Amino acid sequence: MINTSQQDKNIFSISSSEKRALLIKLIQEKSEESMLAGADIVKNVLCDLNRTVEDIPVAHYSFHLYPEYLKLQQQMQSVKGSGYLNPYFTLHSGVNGSLSTINSVDFINYSSYNYLGMSGESTVSFSAKEAIDCYGTSVSASRVVSGEIPLHRELEKEISDFIGTEDCIVYVGGHPTNVTTIGHLFGKDDLILHDEFIHNSASEGCKLSGAKRLSFPHNDWHKVNQILNDQRHRYRRVLIIIEGVYSMDGDIPDLVEFIKIKKHHKVFLMVDEAHSIGVLGNHGRGIGEYFNVNHSDVDIWMGTLSKAFASCGGYIAGCKELVEYLKYTAPGFVYSVGISPSNAAAALAALRLLRKEPSRVRRLHERSKLFLDLCLEKGLDTGMSKNTPVVPVIIGNSAQCIELSEALFRKGVNVRPIIYPAVQEESSRLRFFITSEHTEEQIYFTVNALADELVKVRLHHATKTS
Ligand SMILES: Cc1ncc(COP(=O)(O)O)c(C=O)c1O
Repeated sequence: MINTSQQDKNIFSISSSEKRALLIKLIQEKSEESMLAGADIVKNVLCDLNRTVEDIPVAHYSFHLYPEYLKLQQQMQSVKGSGYLNPYFTLHSGVNGSLSTINSVDFINYSSYNYLGMSGESTVSFSAKEAIDCYGTSVSASRVVSGEIPLHRELEKEISDFIGTEDCIVYVGGHPTNVTTIGHLFGKDDLILHDEFIHNSASEGCKLSGAKRLSFPHNDWHKVNQILNDQRHRYRRVLIIIEGVYSMDGDIPDLVEFIKIKKHHKVFLMVDEAHSIGVLGNHGRGIGEYFNVNHSDVDIWMGTLSKAFASCGGYIAGCKELVEYLKYTAPGFVYSVGISPSNAAAALAALRLLRKEPSRVRRLHERSKLFLDLCLEKGLDTGMSKNTPVVPVIIGNSAQCIELSEALFRKGVNVRPIIYPAVQEESSRLRFFITSEHTEEQIYFTVNALADELVKVRLHHATKTS
């Protein structure tokens, strides 16, 4: 009788002659039981017998013929073939703010999330340089082991004081903050409910966690409540993930309702404040300030340092138990270098400057409102955007979208098209990020140019298709 589990275990490590012998033995035994149990082995052995290393396709061990790469090449060729410029990897030769220099030409720029003009601000740059002089360019170790510097602790304290939480942990990147935190805290007995428009970093974290994952229709807390009414009892822990401001649509979820649901069903709530920290609320304290909620009502406050805070990195703020647990166990923290001295110093300086100059936030709100109001006056479709500096202008056609962005580029306005497959074709759009440093004149000029050029692009397409 053949010991199938043993054979299963060894099937890939035995030689061809041993496989042949095994096959003969299986056929000789002919017992129904052994044939059934060995059916898979027979298939594998037959397959393996006929294969040599020469049969392995090049695409399986070389990136030159990697099928996914070839597909990407095809897509790039079709953009090139249609005569459009490559809208990606535009080279900026200065600070990426309300203005930017591209190919030695100055543009009014709407493609940076330098919301408060902190990147390029002299005090922020000075602090980063000072940190390099003091600590070098890297902390050269994981913080747990020997990479901790005072700036790390100062920054974490400043962030938790600013938001109003007990503690905070800073990671080297915003994206890995979500991946490692969500991936680490939740597991296969858990459920994660997230908004359908959640950022890639959060959905990658969900995948890593192994938890059951369900997305709910955008901002639809009724649906979340309904799902939890039906399914809460089936899971150990449940996490709801939402964002403070959605970066494609520039809208804000109803945090108060999500908190009620979180409390009623005894689940965790996480808010990604990448685009709302420094942006929402009179002092820029984020969506918590905007809705005037108690900060302990949200379990996990996540944010990035790369947007309003002019740096690079991410944070998780919350209760001290959460932060302590992550500091000792989260893989993306424990097994990664600490945030660099210059990045820590830049974020700290930006945060301190924001506290000193809340007028930056006020100006950001005014300029964002002006932009949105002017677009609406011109009859442009700005989707769900409201009270945020993210304003999409929905065109509904990828080709028209690219043409419009090129026409605006020729007029000195840099705004990026967001087209299929990043969004549905009918939702393709130009996405404007407003900053506190955009002047009123720049905004008037931009919206007028946008409305004029859109008419021309639509006319051009109508004549082309008629
Ligand atoms: C909602 C959201 N979360 C997380 C991230 C990742 O942040 P970072 O770019 O700082 O890595 C982004 C980036 O754009 C984001 O929009």
